Amino acid sequence: MTPSWQPLVEAASEARQHAYAPYSGFRVGAALQLDDAVVTGVNVENCSYGLTVCAERNAIAAAVRSGAEPGSVLAVAIVADAEGPTPPCGACRQVLAEFVAPNARVILHNLRDGSSTEMAFTELLPHAFDRSSLDPV
Ligand code: THU
Repeated sequence: MTPSWQPLVEAASEARQHAYAPYSGFRVGAALQLDDAVVTGVNVENCSYGLTVCAERNAIAAAVRSGAEPGSVLAVAIVADAEGPTPPCGACRQVLAEFVAPNARVILHNLRDGSSTEMAFTELLPHAFDRSSLDPV
């Protein structure tokens, strides 16, 4: 991982402490690097399990609330405590795709072994369905 992403990982780690995951026990923190700010999110579970919202999508919602626009997310850090790195689920990849910059980076930090894995967002979701895929009306 590029050392400059360390503060973003720390923001995601701090946020993760506020995750609401009483059913799975799997706490996730996400942090988005915008031009001039960092916005975080955590997973929020529900006793009606299917209503759970992942950390990444909650971070995007918070970013939009703070004025983020499509293309403004420069990097995404995701922090969990697991056997290996925790990549974003498919739904979150699609929602992130709406807001990431063309060269956005993704950092997966695992608290269990302290490892960080960095990659391009496009490695996680190549050939994304995006606004250019829509037939103009
Ligand atoms: N989860 C996330 O927050 N982000 C992901 O990308 C994968 C899964 C959460 C959802 C649920 O609360 C828990 O992890 C177990 O699936």
